Amino acid sequence: MRTSRGSACGEYLRRYWQPLALTREIDDRPLLIRVLGEELVLFRDGSGQYGLVHKQCPHRRASMEFGVCEQRGIRCCYHGWLFDIDGSILEIPGQPQDIADLVRRQTRLGAYPVKEFRGLVFAYLGPPDKIPAFPVYDTLEIEDQTLVPYRADYRCNWLQVLDAILDPIHTSFLHSRVSRAQFSDGLGEIGELLFYQREMSFLGANVRRVGEHVWVRVNELVLPNFTQAGAAFSADGTRPIYYGRTAFSRWVVPIDDENTTAFAWAIFGERADPEEYNTPEGPELIEQGERMDRSYAERQRYPGDAEAVEGMGRIADQKMEHLVPSDKGIIQYRRKLRKLCRDLENGIEPGQAGALWPNPVPTYGGDTVLRMPAREQNDREFLLEIGERVMQIQYDAEDLSGTARDAQVIEALKSLEAAHQ
Ligand code: FES
Ligand SMILES: [Fe+2]
Repeated sequence: MRTSRGSACGEYLRRYWQPLALTREIDDRPLLIRVLGEELVLFRDGSGQYGLVHKQCPHRRASMEFGVCEQRGIRCCYHGWLFDIDGSILEIPGQPQDIADLVRRQTRLGAYPVKEFRGLVFAYLGPPDKIPAFPVYDTLEIEDQTLVPYRADYRCNWLQVLDAILDPIHTSFLHSRVSRAQFSDGLGEIGELLFYQREMSFLGANVRRVGEHVWVRVNELVLPNFTQAGAAFSADGTRPIYYGRTAFSRWVVPIDDENTTAFAWAIFGERADPEEYNTPEGPELIEQGERMDRSYAERQRYPGDAEAVEGMGRIADQKMEHLVPSDKGIIQYRRKLRKLCRDLENGIEPGQAGALWPNPVPTYGGDTVLRMPAREQNDREFLLEIGERVMQIQYDAEDLSGTARDAQVIEALKSLEAAHQ
């Protein structure tokens, strides 16, 4: 749960690119960032380059949040030292040349690599020699879809927010039965649960019977903190969907041990949620079923994810939990997370999605709905069998990408459907 520099999990998380701002949050002023318990300053200089630097100036510790973005680099407000995006010193005004040269050789402002990608700004905060390739997930490259960047802030530890993705059963209660139906009506049915674990990829599939249809909905976690799931609104199990994909791609990022921000894209298009849900409040509704900024009474009547996970306290006491079989996905991923953190303490580097799988990285969050009439007997076993088959069809196409993968998966799903009429 603890993620500051030097903690086991903090060092583990620093082995991955993490989003820490939306591009639209950055103008000509520096932006004070809190991430993984550190205070940093993000800026874009006049040439359009991004820099992420330590907050305190190495001269006499003024805060770079009050610095000035120049054509090249950022200038400290106090005595005008100018720093490049990599933190090296470009100018030390008003000093003898030999002294300025000496200081420039001896010190710098701490800085991290930054990558802006489709409206989100990512940084890598780990050791320079361990920097991984920036992973691109396959769902970000689907044609004719709109990626809408958003952020959602939670006042609690990051694992409380992350857990929900491998908790498919909470959708049937929190988002359906306890509250008003926050997503589609069909989610109120619990269905059968299947869990998968491969390397750092964890899937929780919910297989539901909706009349004549079998609906396989997959929630996904790629460690350490990348999450996806099916459509929030347009999938309800009442019409066939062949290989629907995720409605969000989202990272659950610790701000510090008691605050978390989900940085994400809400995804609109034929294979996610339809464009008509691309409204100003659309991303918030996809994120947690309700608007984030609501009165206490409203939050009590219609609790969403924020109420469920913030209500546990700033750092939940996991020792007081009583886990049950539907928590299997949570148990599995926590165990793996703990192992990866301990391994790193022992010098074993964790895996990277971009190195373990083909690029773009194949992912699985999404919905498939097949028309398959109910069995008179053992329909529950039938649902589980179909769920397994649907997942296997996707795994079998893992080495393919783009339209080739789509074609193979969709054809196999349709023949599976045809074989069970
Ligand atoms: S404190 Fe930054 S230049 Fe002096
Ligand atoms: Fe939720």
